[in-house]
Amino acid sequence: MPPSTSSAPVVHPAEFRFRCIACGDLSDNAARNFRCAHCGDLLEITYPRWNETPPGAEALKTLWRNRRLSHRAVDLSGVWRFRDLLPAIESDHEVITLREGNTPLYELPQCARITGMLRLYAKHQGMNPTSSFKDTGMTVAATYARRAGFRWVACASTGNTSASMAAYAARGGMRSLVLVPEGKISWSKLSQALDYAAVTCQLRTDFDGCLQLLQELVLRAPVYQLNSINPFRLEGQKTLALELLEQLDWQVPDHIIVPGGNLGNSSAIGKALLEMSELGLIRRLPKLSVIQAEGANALVRTLREADGKRLVSVQAETRATAIRIGNPASWKKAAHVLEATGGACEQVSEVEIAQAKAEIGAEGIGCEPASAVTLAGLKKLLQQEFVKPDETVVLVLTGNLLKDPDFTIDFHRGDLFKGDESTSAALNRLRRPPIVLDATLDAVIRTLEQAEKS
Ligand code: F0G
Repeated sequence: MPPSTSSAPVVHPAEFRFRCIACGDLSDNAARNFRCAHCGDLLEITYPRWNETPPGAEALKTLWRNRRLSHRAVDLSGVWRFRDLLPAIESDHEVITLREGNTPLYELPQCARITGMLRLYAKHQGMNPTSSFKDTGMTVAATYARRAGFRWVACASTGNTSASMAAYAARGGMRSLVLVPEGKISWSKLSQALDYAAVTCQLRTDFDGCLQLLQELVLRAPVYQLNSINPFRLEGQKTLALELLEQLDWQVPDHIIVPGGNLGNSSAIGKALLEMSELGLIRRLPKLSVIQAEGANALVRTLREADGKRLVSVQAETRATAIRIGNPASWKKAAHVLEATGGACEQVSEVEIAQAKAEIGAEGIGCEPASAVTLAGLKKLLQQEFVKPDETVVLVLTGNLLKDPDFTIDFHRGDLFKGDESTSAALNRLRRPPIVLDATLDAVIRTLEQAEKS
C-alpha cells in the first residue's frame, strides 16, 4: 500500500503574503497589475510563518519522495508534489494540472567532451505538457486565476507563455486572450494558442509593446494577467530547482545556467535556491548564471553599464525569438539572485547559438534556440575560468525542438546565415541537410557510403 500523503501539513496552508521587492511593503492582496500600491514595483510571494515554524528539511524530502507513489492528481504533478513550498490550495479539485514538471535530467557526454567538461547535465523543461517550462508556473497562476473568479486570463508573449496559458485556461474552463508581436513568433507556438481556443491578437509591435499594453488592459478590463509579473507564476517555476535537487539526491551542483528573456525564470530558480538554503534543504548555493542573446542583452548591459542599479533597455533582435525581449520586467529580481548566488551574466552571438543548438541536437536532445544559449554561454564561462572543467553544471533547456522547426531547417539547409560565407563554413560540419534522391537502391547505398566517409 502506498504511504499516506495526507499526513499533517508540514507548512500551514494559505500562509503567504505579497511583498514589494523595492519598498518591502507587505499585503494580503495584490492589485490587478501585480504592482506595489505604494511604489509601483514588482511583488513577490513570501511565507511569514517559515520564520516562526520552518518546515523540517528531512520531513519535506521524505514527504515529497513518498508522494511519488500516490495517484492523486496533485501528487502526479511535478509542481504540486512540492506544494508545501507553494501558495496553498484548499482542495485537490481547485488545481488545474496537466501533470506538468516531472522533466528529465539528462547527461550530455558529447557536449561535455566538446566543452572539455568532465560531466554536464541538462534539465529538459521542453518535456512539459505544452513543451516549455512555462507550464510549471502556469498551473499555479491559472489555479489562482480561477480561484479568484476570473472568466478571462491574458498574457503578452513571445509564444511559449501564450501556448501554455491557452492550454491551462482551456483545462480550467476559462477564456484566454493572447497578445503576440505580429510575425515575430514561431508558427508552432502560434498554432498551440489557436488549437487551445485562445483569442489570439497579433499586434503590430514587439514583445515589449505587447506587455506594456497588457499592463494597461488589466487595469481597464476584468482579465487576470498571467505573465511572469504575476508572482504565482514564479512560485510554480521554483519547482524546477526542487525537482532538480531531488534528482541529484540533494547533492548541490556548482552551476545552474539558464537563458534570460523577461527574466522571470532565473528569478524563480534563484528564489527557490535561496529558500532551499534558508530551510536547510541544501547546505550551499549553486551559482546561478543567466545567458542572453547579444541582440537582446538588456541584463548584461544593466549589470555592466549601470552596475545593476537601473535597467538599460535595448531594441531586441535575435532569431532566438523566445528571448527577443529588450525591456525585461523582472530585471531587478534577476539581478538580486545573480548577486546572492554569485552567478554570472553573459551574452552569445547568433552563430554561437546555432552551433550550440546543433551540438545539443546531435546528442539526441532537441531544444529550441533560446535554450541553446546555455551551452554557448557555458563555453564562454569556461574560457573566463568562471566555470572549471571538473565542476558540476546543469543547463536548463527551456523549450522543445519542435517549438521552432523553421530555425532547425534553415540551419541545416544553410539558409540561416545566407550570404555570410565565412560563418556558414564554420558551421558546415554540423549541418545535415536533407538529400533528395531518385528512389533507387543504388542512390541510397551511394549516399550511405559517402556519409560513412564524411
Ligand atoms: N526560453 C524559452 C523557450 C522561452 O520561451 C523564454 C521566455 C525564455 C527562455 C526566457 O525566460 O522570460 O523567464 O527569462 N518566453 C516568454 C514567452 C517571454 O512569452 O513565452 P524568461
